[in-house]
Amino acid sequence: MPPVKKATLLIKNIGQLITMDGPVPRLGDQMMNLGLIENGGVAAAGDEILAVGKSDDVEGKAPLAEGCTVINAHGAVVTPGFIDSHTHPVFSITREKEFEMRIQGKSYMEIAAAGGGIRASVRDLRTTPADVLTRKTGGRLDRLMAHGVTTIEAKSGYGLSTESEIKQLQIIRELGQTHPMEMVPTFLGAHEVPDEYRENRQGYIDLVIHEMLPAVVKDNLAEFSDIFCEEGIFNIEESRKIQMAASAAGLGLKFHADELKSTGGAELAASMGACSADHLVYTSDEGIRAMAKAGTVAVLLPGTTFSLGGAAYAPARRMIESGVAVALSTDCNPGSSYTESLPLIISLAALQMKMTAAEAISAVTVNAAVAINRAGRIGQLKEGLRADAVIWDMTDYRELPYHCGVNLVERVIKRGKVVVNRSVNGNVR
Ligand code: NIG
Ligand code: FE
Repeated sequence: MPPVKKATLLIKNIGQLITMDGPVPRLGDQMMNLGLIENGGVAAAGDEILAVGKSDDVEGKAPLAEGCTVINAHGAVVTPGFIDSHTHPVFSITREKEFEMRIQGKSYMEIAAAGGGIRASVRDLRTTPADVLTRKTGGRLDRLMAHGVTTIEAKSGYGLSTESEIKQLQIIRELGQTHPMEMVPTFLGAHEVPDEYRENRQGYIDLVIHEMLPAVVKDNLAEFSDIFCEEGIFNIEESRKIQMAASAAGLGLKFHADELKSTGGAELAASMGACSADHLVYTSDEGIRAMAKAGTVAVLLPGTTFSLGGAAYAPARRMIESGVAVALSTDCNPGSSYTESLPLIISLAALQMKMTAAEAISAVTVNAAVAINRAGRIGQLKEGLRADAVIWDMTDYRELPYHCGVNLVERVIKRGKVVVNRSVNGNVR
């Protein structure tokens, strides 16, 4: 008989235990289904969940290992660790000057065309030593985690040379080993055309396809390839060509699509069987239908509209009603959405896109897991899955979007260990 597994972590007396047990991804009305257990408990053995259920049952079932961490949640809400499925965390300079220029009337694209935007970040990143970038990125991971995130998708895209793209992906790999945050790396060499190729776009596309992609794949530095498919950046034909090469090299596909204009990016992503298409503020009904049919996840990033001072948010309701799997993410980056707060994004999704708290929680757990190819491993609290959870200083999960602009995280558990503890004197529930 195999040895009985003993609990190394027990969380008991959970007022609302949101397990997300049920269909993966959550589509349509199913997004309201949180797999909620009242007065619940969770036990973990090492980095794996051992038991989930009513508090008394879990306590009765799992024998405790010596030194087991026992947390009395005193009626709090517990969710799976949140998943931020679209971030650009490796950068050095911040761009508050551009933020102010936008407030004074310049548009994101005007600033980019004049040499600011992504290209300003690229010029800086290329000359920043790796140890400085690692330290700054690590700080961002700390902040994301303090806001309830236990896994992120992390993109390169501020190097735009083979050497500097690899430098970022290596930092992501290193932090995935040294920081408790779990990282899913994405190659974004096609984020912009860098300064030295402005007169030779084709030369840059060739570099991405024939030099960068093979180098990234050779060292297994990325799981996905992403592209900024947008008028003035990479058009539909260029995007198709680059992503075809990426797919042939074995990478999953993601697209920044229809962020500032409707260009058919969602249709292209769906036709190529992309894992996700992201932004989608201006996606057509046809694009929505195509994504539903292809099973391409819509990763919506309302922090971008908010930070760019825009009026148009992605049509989340139409997408949910059309059967598209919707995820939500910060898009954490120094240009269009400088925030590490997924709870802020949830408030924006509620107020600006009319998503309920339950839909938003589905969007940052199970559906986000599908967006990064981690379904069945994270995003749910179920026996055998990774023990990633958040204890929130609230008794009703609907407080999450409603109580906005403050951090309600009490404790974060990653791989069965408490990695954030804000509970000292802080509980007001
Ligand atoms: O997701 N859209 C393209 N990339 C980022 C912005 C990057 C930047 O401005 O530095 C985004 O919005
Ligand atoms: Fe982005």
